[in-house]
Amino acid sequence: MNNLDNDIKVKLVKEALSSSERAYSPYSNYCVGAALLSASGRIYTGCNIENSSYGATNCAERTAIFKAVSEGEKDFTAIAIAGHKRGEKPVEYAFPCGICRQVMAEFCKKDFIVIVAVSDEDFKEFTLDELLPESFGSDCIV
Ligand code: THU
Repeated sequence: MNNLDNDIKVKLVKEALSSSERAYSPYSNYCVGAALLSASGRIYTGCNIENSSYGATNCAERTAIFKAVSEGEKDFTAIAIAGHKRGEKPVEYAFPCGICRQVMAEFCKKDFIVIVAVSDEDFKEFTLDELLPESFGSDCIV
């Protein structure tokens, strides 16, 4: 089981909250931010980036993961996620969508920590295995 210092969790949550302010979401007006901690200690942030062709939208979590992988990182410890309506504060935990859970499963182990946050004082955490049990992975096809 991964053990993360509370200070690091709070830092990730703060980064996720500030990243949500950079969301490009003119269609839903829902703003999501994510902060991904790599094993090297670097934090990669991401926001949702929508598109007029809705299916081309990229979620905040995948933005952060793809940024990190494109920078050469493939070993991750935790991600914090926060979502809210534009101009408002988060009122509920924003859980990662199914596609993002699958992308996490590509790069992260079962004990990867997913933190969903309303604020830096109100957040909870799950393991990836709790959010995506019995997942499909490369071990199925090689
Ligand atoms: N969204 C995310 O960024 N992450 C998720 O896990 C769920 C949904 C975004 C996509 C879209 O821009 C907006 O939230 C509304 O669905």
